[in-house]
Amino acid sequence: MRILVINGPNLNMLGQRETEHYGTDTLESIEQALTEKGKPLGCELVFFQSNHEGSIIDFIQDKTKGADGILINPGALTHYGYSLHDALVDSGLPIIEVHLSDIQAREEWRRTSVISDIVIKQISGLKTKSYLLGLEALVEHIRSQKKK
Ligand code: DQA
Repeated sequence: MRILVINGPNLNMLGQRETEHYGTDTLESIEQALTEKGKPLGCELVFFQSNHEGSIIDFIQDKTKGADGILINPGALTHYGYSLHDALVDSGLPIIEVHLSDIQAREEWRRTSVISDIVIKQISGLKTKSYLLGLEALVEHIRSQKKK
């Protein structure tokens, strides 16, 4: 099973960036933890991070064929990325949205996710664990769909 793991703007700065909200793990260590988690689940993970919405859309368009699902932390694009929303819809893939911080418990503008209507689940506030639980839930969902 092939999963696209996408991180949006500023997530390349994890480890140094607002650690009270995002924790001290770097993006590299999160990706490493996901790789370990994915092995027994039979996952091939394809990682991508960009600070540019268009690059993320190009990646989704390029990699949709042959992929089974998307695990995404869109960063601030979560709150206004309508082009990203549309690219995710066009992929037709099952999607799980993850956030390190609890976006419901921060500034008012962070409470809205423009992709929440198209994802299977949003997992937020558990730092690195949001990604690990997200991967588990996505794999479970894909497997249950395949059985049908
Ligand atoms: C984030 C939350 C967003 O509001 C913020 O812009 C981020 C990270 C999170 O993982 O908690 O860049 O998606």
